[in-house]
Amino acid sequence: MKIRFIELDINGDERGNLIAIEGLKDIPFEIKRIYYIFNLKRNAPRGFHVHKKLQQVAICIKGSCKFLLDNGKEKVRDIILDRPNKGLFIDKMIWREMYDFSEDCILLVLANDYYDENDYIRDYGEFLKTIKV
Ligand code: TYD
Repeated sequence: MKIRFIELDINGDERGNLIAIEGLKDIPFEIKRIYYIFNLKRNAPRGFHVHKKLQQVAICIKGSCKFLLDNGKEKVRDIILDRPNKGLFIDKMIWREMYDFSEDCILLVLANDYYDENDYIRDYGEFLKTIKV
C-alpha cells in the first residue's frame, strides 16, 4: 500500500516560518472543512473509522503522532507525523487510527467536504464487507 506524503513549502526568514496550503495546488482537493485536535493523551488513540467518500490531509503542526492506515488488505503502522510541513494524504475507504500523541501535539486535518456522520464506517467488519462487494 502506497503512503502518500505531501511536502509543504516553508516560507522562512529571520522572523520565523510560514506555511500556506492552497486547495488543488498544494493538496489534491478543494478544502471545504478544517479541524484540529489537541490536548490529546498518548494512551488515548483516535480514529478507528473509514470515510466512504471523504478525502483528507493530516498535518501535525506541533508535536508528533503516529498513524496506522489500512486499505482492508494491507496495514501500514507507525507512520510518523512530526513536522508542520509534512502532510499525510488519506483517501476515501482507508481505515485510520491515530496514536502516540505527544503532549503538545496539534493535529490539523483538511477535508474536502463538510462533516457528515453518514459518511463514516466505524465498524471494522463492516468496512471489510463493504470493500469486498
Ligand atoms: P471523531 O470523528 O470521533 O474524532 P476522531 O476521528 O479524531 O476519532 O469526532 C469526535 C467528535 O467530534 C464526534 O462527536 C463528532 C464531532 N465532529 C464534528 O462535529 N465535526 C467534525 O468535523 C469532526 C471531524 C468531528
